[in-house]
Amino acid sequence: MELDTKLKSDAAGTASGQAAGKKVFVKTYGCQMNVYDSQRMTDALVADGYAATDDMADADLVLLNTCHIREKAAEKVYSEIGRIREMKKERAALGRETVIGVTGCVAQAEGAEIMRRAPAVDLVVGPQTYHRLPAVLEKVRSGGKVVETDYALDDKFEHLPQPKRAELARRGVTAFLTVQEGCDKFCTFCVVPYTRGSEVSRPVAQIVAEAERLVEAGVREVTLLGQNVNAWHGEGLDLEGQSTEWGLGRLLFRLAEIPGLARLRYTTSHPRDMDDELIAAHRDLESLMPYLHLPVQSGSDRILKAMNRRHKAEDYLRLIERVRAARPDIAISGDFIVGFPGETGEDFEATMRLVREVNYASAFSFKYSPRPGTPGAEMDGHVPEQVKDERLQRLQALLVEQQQAFTGSMVGRTMPTLIEKAGRQAGQRVGRSPWLQPVIVDEKAGGIGEIIEVRIMSAGYNSLHAEPV
Ligand code: 5AD
Ligand code: SF4
Repeated sequence: MELDTKLKSDAAGTASGQAAGKKVFVKTYGCQMNVYDSQRMTDALVADGYAATDDMADADLVLLNTCHIREKAAEKVYSEIGRIREMKKERAALGRETVIGVTGCVAQAEGAEIMRRAPAVDLVVGPQTYHRLPAVLEKVRSGGKVVETDYALDDKFEHLPQPKRAELARRGVTAFLTVQEGCDKFCTFCVVPYTRGSEVSRPVAQIVAEAERLVEAGVREVTLLGQNVNAWHGEGLDLEGQSTEWGLGRLLFRLAEIPGLARLRYTTSHPRDMDDELIAAHRDLESLMPYLHLPVQSGSDRILKAMNRRHKAEDYLRLIERVRAARPDIAISGDFIVGFPGETGEDFEATMRLVREVNYASAFSFKYSPRPGTPGAEMDGHVPEQVKDERLQRLQALLVEQQQAFTGSMVGRTMPTLIEKAGRQAGQRVGRSPWLQPVIVDEKAGGIGEIIEVRIMSAGYNSLHAEPV
């Protein structure tokens, strides 16, 4: 098997013409950044002559854009490859070729190992090299297998083609925009610093240009993405026109000036990077939605230290107080890990206490999953699976209770809602509340892309039913 790890970057984006008439199917796993990346990969391939399809069986090229954050996520990929291999055989019997590619964080973490375990895979491309996909495919066409997992040899974002306006419009009125990628924090449980590499911020001008393009195509709400989005920093201008260092807060103030950009969000943040200007943005910007995803992982200082989070539980609680003082209606969301190595019953109770004190509007919680190559995996005191299960159950019960109370508290309130798409039932549309909840309204209430004032009539498990006021 020929493994070619080096392709010249200047081959990027050259339309080979050989892709004409071919179809690509991309399946996305994991976080929102993968959703964004899948779109950019599709854009790069469409520019090369491919057509995007939603039907895997009809695709000449199947890409799995993968996630490595927990073992379960990574294992899913191999079972999916098994299924696709069968499909590849069926298509081959009809004389149709199928190229299988693995991209994203599993690609980065496992590289050529993927082909050893799953020989049906033709190409493995890491998150920093998507712009070189057309060149990689050229290589595969001439009979090779390709592994491309170099870290940013050149600027991934600068080299990715942007979608055509019509394609953007088709994608809807909300959009993701990656502003930052990678992480230098090295929490001891986390693979991200290894799979996504060190922190890279996109320049202000690139971000503003992309946001403006999105708005021109009809997007009303933009969510800025980054593994450590509030670590974003860049060079901008101050009021006197002098070049100065900007943080995410300043960037949000700038983006809020774009006419027609009605709503801004950002995710995911680290408590260490919540600075005064970002908190001020929550206080001053009407278009910055009152929602903050701020993972804490644990409420125990001992475990926070072992996790290398570099803050104490008390720091997090005071930070939440400051954010709430700036924006009293802000909804707080978080991530938690139970059963990190060394976590005692008392440590877990500290997490439960913190959750009670914060009162979350929503949250994600996970059992610790040792990731190869991370310091946590090498630590002593791994917690038995059964104990992890019990803790997760207790934590999730509390979090669900809080989330239900939050959703329930919306009944009777009026709020602006962005109408996003057709509902599942005929005659309905689904909108989005400022707090990210789906809001179901009658289709006569407003057109897609409109922001209408509604009154919440009832609350379901996670969604709200509303009438226009
Ligand atoms: N095990 C369990 N959960 C993890 N997360 C990250 N790494 C691990 C791991 N090894 C969780 C964290 C993070 C979220 C995206 O995934 O809570 O915030
Ligand atoms: Fe992972 Fe920690 Fe970086 Fe978040 S801050 S991506 S949890 S290392």
